[in-house]
Amino acid sequence: MITFQNRTTFDYSDILSDVYRVAQQIEDESGIGGEYLGWRTYPQRYRKTDEYRKINTVAREINQAADAFVVIGVGGSYLGARAVISALTHTYANECTDIFTPSIYYAGKDLSAAALSDLLDVLQSKKSIYLNVISKSGTTLETSIAFRVLRDFLEKRYAADDVRKRIIVTTDGASGALYDEARKNGYRRFIIPDNIGGRYSVLTAVGLLPIAVAGISIDALIDGACAQREECIKDFTENNCLQYAAARTMVYRKGVAVDVFAIYEPKLKYFAEWWKQLFGESEGKEHKGLFPTSLLCTTDLHSLGQYMQEGARIMCETVLGVEGDNCSLHIPKSDSNSDGVDDLVNLSLEEINNSAQRATIAAHQEGGVPVLQLSMNSLSAYNIGAAIYFFEYACAVSAYLLGVNPFDQPGVEVYKKKMRTLLFN
Ligand code: PA5
Repeated sequence: MITFQNRTTFDYSDILSDVYRVAQQIEDESGIGGEYLGWRTYPQRYRKTDEYRKINTVAREINQAADAFVVIGVGGSYLGARAVISALTHTYANECTDIFTPSIYYAGKDLSAAALSDLLDVLQSKKSIYLNVISKSGTTLETSIAFRVLRDFLEKRYAADDVRKRIIVTTDGASGALYDEARKNGYRRFIIPDNIGGRYSVLTAVGLLPIAVAGISIDALIDGACAQREECIKDFTENNCLQYAAARTMVYRKGVAVDVFAIYEPKLKYFAEWWKQLFGESEGKEHKGLFPTSLLCTTDLHSLGQYMQEGARIMCETVLGVEGDNCSLHIPKSDSNSDGVDDLVNLSLEEINNSAQRATIAAHQEGGVPVLQLSMNSLSAYNIGAAIYFFEYACAVSAYLLGVNPFDQPGVEVYKKKMRTLLFN
């Protein structure tokens, strides 16, 4: 579960009635974009369906048969899966192929020839490759190109029947280019619901199939999300999610322009990327919204840390801390103690990292940065599921408080249109 630790440092009286109004709009789906609020109750309904059972079956098959699994997608069709898999699997899983299979790769997330041809090089040495191509629209250029290249690679390697078995398509349930392609070629399909947009789709087949292939319990992930939903609909006084969204909005209204998502666990790096997409694409409209960026501590404290402490006072900071000791590592004693680290030998590295977090929060607050401090008690599937739900809900509240539609992305369409004009005319 996610806790907003310093929530009582904010005075919510001026914003309270607005928060109650938008929370009601979310629950009765009466706000702008209300037809895309399916993610609110999807996890508890989805887990009872045949398709959910099929996810576990197909994931088990891939897990046992494949030594390489490529997730092809971009934005909301890729970041959620990567965020969860990076958070909950071994940092070097792809290098330890005798312990962790299959190796998981990502494609279609950019237009880099180098990235795609390097991936093809790696796949040359793999014996059993499966692809999961994910696109709601079915027409996203990055995804389409990578899929074409990788499918061609498979077709040169395996017989037609085998290729059919190795391609799994996650797309719209009734129409679209990818839907047509899957039907024509007999690929196995998973559905992206109409009422859930890309960046809110990690707890649908979009995220759940790759996550299950990685060996993560999707039941635990869904349990966490469902438990967090109960928290998100509580009264404001005991609702960490509404209080976080309100505090974020209050600092924005005071003139803050940037929200820095700070993490102290590198495994959360892609969670930060997912968070940035969620808030950036949902809120950045009509020349409004906090610009979401991230700080990977303590690494970035030796670079951006200077700006955070003494640069222009334009930012607030959302810190997501992990309290528990997931991995205990102690520092060995040294005879010379020339580095002066001997005083710390009784502490775990986790405790030292937590001290760095506490010290940095205090320093940044002293430097005039409003800090919104969130935490989870361990890095588990349950807590990551809860965190996903917490931020999705907070983002919807925050965007409604800003007065924008959290569920569209007209600005993204502008670049797509211009690129298509350049390429296809
Ligand atoms: O959140 C969103 O809607 C976007 O980030 C999309 O997920 C992204 O553009 C990919 O779109 P599609 O799934 O249609 O390929």
